[in-house]
Amino acid sequence: MPISVSRLTKLFRRHGQTCLALDGIDLAIADGEMVALIGPSGSGKSTLLRHCAGLVTGDLGTGTIRVDQHTVQDNGRLARQVRKARQGIGFIFQQFNLVERMDVLGNVLAGAIHRHPMWRTLSGIYPRAEREAAMRCLARVGVADKAGQRAGSLSGGQQQRVAIARAMLQGARTILADEPIASLDPNAARRVMEHLAALNREDKATVVVSLHQVDYARKYCRRAVALRHGRVVFDGPVEELSDQHLASIYANTLDSEPVPPEVRTDEAAAPTPAPSHFTPQFA
Ligand SMILES: Nc1ncnc2c1ncn2[C@@H]1O[C@H](COP(=O)(O)OP(=O)(O)OP(=O)(O)O)[C@@H](O)[C@H]1O
Ligand SMILES: [Mg+2]
Repeated sequence: MPISVSRLTKLFRRHGQTCLALDGIDLAIADGEMVALIGPSGSGKSTLLRHCAGLVTGDLGTGTIRVDQHTVQDNGRLARQVRKARQGIGFIFQQFNLVERMDVLGNVLAGAIHRHPMWRTLSGIYPRAEREAAMRCLARVGVADKAGQRAGSLSGGQQQRVAIARAMLQGARTILADEPIASLDPNAARRVMEHLAALNREDKATVVVSLHQVDYARKYCRRAVALRHGRVVFDGPVEELSDQHLASIYANTLDSEPVPPEVRTDEAAAPTPAPSHFTPQFA
């Protein structure tokens, strides 16, 4: 099972206040799935993805997360081999997370960091084969012509595609994308979603993508997992995500109208089939 989360709980404490961000999450995602993680603001989407990437640990004594055969964390402690797990995880952030002063090619090559000694990373001198592989990744996402440009000079959509190229070069088997299209216009958003879908379809990566726009979830993913108050309240095929479900998922929140009208379902990017073990549930 590429991603399994069991009994994960996270209570944040800040300035004497507490916030139960994750409340006993159980989740299993099979090899090759592309799953939309939806839910209102503050429901725990980012917190869950960050736990899966080993960027945050759950409460002591709770939660086990495994990604692609590696334990990421167990009982509130990072696993010893968390570095191995991280090598296989490509994390895509809303704000791209590129080194803006570095050129685009250098940013993509950073995805190969685990394959080379530290001095190469620091010196920026990579073998020709690696540079060519990085150029091929840039070509796949349509920004090869920007390779020598400072990353910070690219548009938001282009920067996000560079981040996807970095995950491609990394050879990430698991892609965790946290609102990758939230700050993009509809055209740029579509392109980014199509490249994530291509990573899933062509590179066979397992993709979990948090989204505020339910239409994008419906168009690109077969399965949706909805969080509310840190709990899984829907887990099933996107076509079973009815207006009634959405109304209850987003009830009394600022995200109660999450569906933008601009996305049509008549374009390419057919999602991958759901695995056979897949059973919908609605809590
Ligand atoms: N570092 C932190 N310290 C304290 N509280 C936090 C921290 N990170 C998240 N939280 C709280 O945990 C809850 C879940 O936050 P999270 O960012 O995971 O929500 P989200 O579903 O990603 O929301 P959004 O759609 O707005 O990005 C929120 O109430 C948030 O305020
Ligand atoms: Mg978030």
